[in-house]
Amino acid sequence: MPSHLLEISNLSKDDLSGLLATAAHFKKTRYRGAELRGKTLALLFEKASLRTRTTLEVAALHLGGHAVYLDSRQIALGVREPVLDVAKNLGRWLDGIAARVNKHETVSILARESGVPVINALSDLHHPLQALADLLTLQENFSTLRGLRLAYVGDGNNVLASLLEAAALAGVEVVVSTPEGYEPAKELLRRAAAKVVRDPFAAVKGANAVYTDVWVSMGQEEEAQKRLRAFRGYTVTPQLMAAAPKDAIFMHCLPAHYGEEVVEEVVHGPQSKVFDQAENRLHTVKAVLALLLGGGLA
Ligand code: CP
Ligand code: NVA
Repeated sequence: MPSHLLEISNLSKDDLSGLLATAAHFKKTRYRGAELRGKTLALLFEKASLRTRTTLEVAALHLGGHAVYLDSRQIALGVREPVLDVAKNLGRWLDGIAARVNKHETVSILARESGVPVINALSDLHHPLQALADLLTLQENFSTLRGLRLAYVGDGNNVLASLLEAAALAGVEVVVSTPEGYEPAKELLRRAAAKVVRDPFAAVKGANAVYTDVWVSMGQEEEAQKRLRAFRGYTVTPQLMAAAPKDAIFMHCLPAHYGEEVVEEVVHGPQSKVFDQAENRLHTVKAVLALLLGGGLA
């Protein structure tokens, strides 16, 4: 059983399939349980969030536990006091920590030093909670994951990194379409046996799912103009969706920046599964809390 979820590679194939099966069960039964009874989870967020914060809080409550949201302006990680000291304090009071951080190193320090399970609620490098919801959504739409083809169009960012790691474990084939210089790390591509296809219209051919995320992630605001120029031509439009098979689904972790990586018509169109993905954030994070804080999966 893993102690932390900092990246998808902390999970084995069996952990992953167990998490997805548990999440599907939680969803189907509208599960409420007592796995976290008397337990507290710190939510330490250095960046904004709608989905991740809400689903962590609701998931903890549904399992009988309690989440404590810590305002990053008050905590001022590394400014008011070192991350190491924050980690050692939190570990004395809480049963787990979910952290959304600027630098991935911060979740590593929290995991090493706090003595309690740590969940990466998004870092500059990974977004494992999102990838779990993405796989559940794919599974719901296509019954099986192995052999599916997903075309990711856009920036080779944290969301893609976790998606590639998850796809590698689940046997999903990923085709990545990024402009030059915005590819994910070679090692991630290699592990997922993913290929890069520059032309998004070629990339979506034969894809079961077309996935995109923002071109300017949180913390990259200073590069916004340069990025908007670099990604021109990579917008997911109805024309691009028409180049994919008719039954292909559209996916996005949200929030969406309309007119940049996607147009509103696609997000709210008939092929879109983005709100199922958002719903599945709740069921999958509930499975993660049961696994890491609740003593294991049923
Ligand atoms: N997809 C996602 O993580 O959303 P939030 O940034 O709103 O948490
Ligand atoms: N890549 C985006 C994901 C937001 C959920 C970011 O890091 O801002």
